[in-house]
Amino acid sequence: MNDIILNIVDLNKSFPLHSGISDLIRFKKSKKIKVIDNISFKISRGEILVLAGESGSGKTTIAKLIMRSINPDSGSIFFDNIDITKLKGKDLLKTRSKIQIIFQDPYSSLDPRMKIFDIVKEPLDVHKKGLKKIDIKEYVFSALKKVNLNPDDIISKFPHMLSGGQRQRVSFARALVLKPRLIIADEPVSMLDVSIRGQILELMKKLKQEENISFLYITHDLATSQYVGDNIIILYKGQIIEQGNIKQVLYKPLHPYTRALIAAIPKFTKDQAHHEIKIKNDPESISNQVGCKFINKCLYSTEKCKNSEPLLTIDEEEETHIPSSSSSSSSPSSTPHEPHNSHFIRCFNYESIS
Ligand SMILES: Nc1ncnc2c1ncn2[C@@H]1O[C@H](COP(=O)(O)OP(=O)(O)OP(=O)(O)O)[C@@H](O)[C@H]1O
Ligand code: SF4
Ligand SMILES: [Mg+2]
Repeated sequence: MNDIILNIVDLNKSFPLHSGISDLIRFKKSKKIKVIDNISFKISRGEILVLAGESGSGKTTIAKLIMRSINPDSGSIFFDNIDITKLKGKDLLKTRSKIQIIFQDPYSSLDPRMKIFDIVKEPLDVHKKGLKKIDIKEYVFSALKKVNLNPDDIISKFPHMLSGGQRQRVSFARALVLKPRLIIADEPVSMLDVSIRGQILELMKKLKQEENISFLYITHDLATSQYVGDNIIILYKGQIIEQGNIKQVLYKPLHPYTRALIAAIPKFTKDQAHHEIKIKNDPESISNQVGCKFINKCLYSTEKCKNSEPLLTIDEEEETHIPSSSSSSSSPSSTPHEPHNSHFIRCFNYESIS
């Protein structure tokens, strides 16, 4: 059996820049901004891949492209070896049942007028029409048990009667009821109380281990992501700028941006002190600029960075020092035969940054 559940190849997506009313009147073509820029990555069965990056870097857009709620301009999304960008109708519906998404806000993602039983059952009405009542009950109860909720206590309640953590568990149960193979969790804990965030992360880990479910875990929280993630992608302006085994990337970050992100985490680890690195506070450019996209913020730029764009390449030095802790398989598809656990970096000068 192929170990790869999701394989994204050279994905691109642009959105129109907001044009003024005068442009509209003159029927002027609106400019486009590339939000997803040639992204490629893979997720294995039972892997948690962390997707991190600043606000606006394109994380949710990637989630929407995988869910097929928007279409890419180009590129492929292979789910279980089938390019889902080409699917329509029944075939698309079938795939959708295998990929589920959990949103950030458990308050607005659950219909306040529905009881928990009906909320968890709802996907079955769309994807498993004709199920007998007894089977529906079995599906719903089993999903609620998997997220450590007692079905008898909860099925007749409304969302407002639950805590934030319980609501997010219900969101997970609703996703699980269709027995998905991949769950996209878009900042699933950021609106929860700090005290219950750990429980939801533990739940993801349990579902990975017991159900072999894969996760694309979108988060700003690098510090806690190391406890659940196997691999990590750091996104900047729609490009992957660093990627690899989560411990490699967090404990030996190579890109100036990743290093600045990690340096900003208070007391992440004592060992991180020597990675501390600063970035410039220059305004962001929103144009489709030539050269490195990070140049306006980078203190290490050279002439080369202005004129050409760095490619995502393997850090050769780390190839020989692969940690054994993870079952990594995330690697850009342009290098399908590279060994697992490679550390990828997009920077001309990373080796000279100390
Ligand atoms: N439908 C759209 N039309 C135009 N621009 C869009 C659209 N959707 C997203 N964008 C733009 O694409 C960029 C990426 O947005 P996205 O929501 O993917 O970011 P994100 O990384 O998820 O950010 P956050 O961490 O704040 O959730 C942003 O600049 C956003 O304004
Ligand atoms: S390529 Fe140049 S500008 Fe870009 S991050 Fe590296 S040093 Fe900085
Ligand atoms: Mg987002």
